[in-house]
Amino acid sequence: MNQRRIRPGTRLVEGGRRKAWRGKLVNVPVERTSTVLFDSVADMKRSRAGLGVYSYGLQGTATHWALSEALTELEPGAAGTALYPSGLAAITSTLLSLLKPGDELLVPDNIYGPTRHFCDAFLKQHGITTRYYDPLVGEDIAGLIGPDTRAIMLESPGSLTMEIQDVPGICAVARDRGVPTLIDNTWATPLLFPAIAAGVDITILAATKYVGGHADVMLGTVTATAEHFDRIQRLSWDLGQAVSADDAWLCSRGLRTMALRLKQHEASALKVANWLKLRSEVGTVLHPALLECPGHDHWTRDFKGSSGLFSFELKGANATARATFVDRLELFGIGYSWGGFESLAIPVEPVRTVSKAPASNLIRLHIGLEDVDDLIEDLDRSLRKLQL
Ligand SMILES: Cc1ncc(COP(=O)(O)O)c(C=O)c1O
Repeated sequence: MNQRRIRPGTRLVEGGRRKAWRGKLVNVPVERTSTVLFDSVADMKRSRAGLGVYSYGLQGTATHWALSEALTELEPGAAGTALYPSGLAAITSTLLSLLKPGDELLVPDNIYGPTRHFCDAFLKQHGITTRYYDPLVGEDIAGLIGPDTRAIMLESPGSLTMEIQDVPGICAVARDRGVPTLIDNTWATPLLFPAIAAGVDITILAATKYVGGHADVMLGTVTATAEHFDRIQRLSWDLGQAVSADDAWLCSRGLRTMALRLKQHEASALKVANWLKLRSEVGTVLHPALLECPGHDHWTRDFKGSSGLFSFELKGANATARATFVDRLELFGIGYSWGGFESLAIPVEPVRTVSKAPASNLIRLHIGLEDVDDLIEDLDRSLRKLQL
């Protein structure tokens, strides 16, 4: 697309739909292939894999390039986007592209659980040390950067407890010290937080969530600056990280309506969060847009809105009481993941090693696209049955 100034909502609709790829159709079609046939041996030898160049199934087809290009255009300052078969694969592959034995990685203490497990198991086994830090450390991250620190990971808001980090502050310090930064930006997407413009080098999405948006696809994306993109893309091929054309197509389709869906998730989640705040059974509500959420000021300063995921404290409720509360909900599914059109609820137990969780006895909600008053009535019914 030409680079005239258009707004992100329009970019979502236009992104990746090059005429050369879609022909006379509205959408770039699903191009499934393993094999690309060249016109001649000379043609084959000349071919260099990359966006827009057919070389082999692993390097993708127009279906993949359309999604990559659309996501890159949502991040001003980015050079490209690599695709992965899951959000977790996107995270682990990026870490592998930055680290080698003997290196140290800084990771916020409220990181997504499977990322923590990868650091504590695989990276440790390969001689890479993870140092966890308080997600609210801000510019004091400077004191944690040592001679072997080779990457700083961020996730904002963080998993389960939703603290919002001082991303520009941490990234400015990191840049000063020559340490690359990577962020898990799944909650906000580039629509609510364009991470590269905020100073991050590499931004990662579990497109499984809001990009796909329909709980029917798994996919991860890594969007990076020119300094990092080629290395990341190269390693994704070296690791054989193939994404099916059908899954890439589903994510491009999801992207077209993402702005609209996020607005509804935001409005409904805020209504539920504010309603919960007034209930006597409920303690702290960890929603980034609420004052009581740690790091709320960073959210106000840096974000363009909020999405549908947050947590709240069910006062004095042990694990059994919280499980019963969730079991009694009729409109909320019980399941991992989030970001689809449907509402979900799970009791959660944050793991912390260097900082304190801002609240305990937590339930995490994903507020979907149902009529929000039905969701509130469902929560109300289950709260009333609680006998704490
Ligand atoms: C914050 C966050 N990052 C990454 C992931 C991983 O994404 P995927 O399930 O596509 O591997 C998840 C999944 O729940 C998540 O919540």
